[in-house]
Amino acid sequence: MKSQAEEFKLPYAYWGASLSHIDSKIASEIINWVKNPINILFLRGVPGCGKTYLMAAILNDSWGKKRNENKTVRYMYEKRMFNKIRMKAGPGSFEDPMGYAMDLCEADYLMIDDFGSSKETDFIRDVWEMIMDERLNWGKRRSTVISSNLSNEEINERFGGRTASRILCKANTQVLFDNYDRRLDPVMGRK
Ligand SMILES: Nc1ncnc2c1ncn2[C@@H]1O[C@H](COP(=O)(O)OP(=O)(O)OP(=O)(O)O)[C@@H](O)[C@H]1O
Ligand SMILES: [Mg+2]
Repeated sequence: MKSQAEEFKLPYAYWGASLSHIDSKIASEIINWVKNPINILFLRGVPGCGKTYLMAAILNDSWGKKRNENKTVRYMYEKRMFNKIRMKAGPGSFEDPMGYAMDLCEADYLMIDDFGSSKETDFIRDVWEMIMDERLNWGKRRSTVISSNLSNEEINERFGGRTASRILCKANTQVLFDNYDRRLDPVMGRK
């Protein structure tokens, strides 16, 4: 049977992810949020520290099951989302490039992986402001996990005060990972 991480088209390295593998320093905070996933869980840390792995673990151990309760669950990798939107907006296309972003606004459970990894443009800033505004207004009824390498100040500088304010006011659980790149780990990484 496929794992949820595979169903959500995450790469192979994440298919077996499980919350039981999460470092004990952050595990209790994460597990408490997952039990009661209100507003935004914000995951911050250097490249390779395990943010995407943790999202895959939440999909595998918890959010995957929400789909059986008629809830919509979305995982999106920022760069891929903007590529899709750009393709939909391409010459000769009749599709609404914002349709995909609207789907994300409305998801009951949404994961945004690598927020801020695309080179920001006015268009990208507008898309984020729309998504964050919509999710803010639905408050507790929509759960969001965001991962990013950016500090709060960088979010503010790059995406503007309106988006930063909407994210940070609801990021009631913020988890800072250790400054350790697992990809460079001689045992865990480089497999
Ligand atoms: N708790 C864990 N147990 C086992 N493997 C892990 C764990 N956390 C991360 N890994 C592995 O370490 C590698 C790096 O993790 P991951 O891709 O989640 O980092 P990241 O923080 O998302 O990095 P980036 O910011 O570059 O996207 C991956 O191969 C992942 O499978
Ligand atoms: Mg990642």
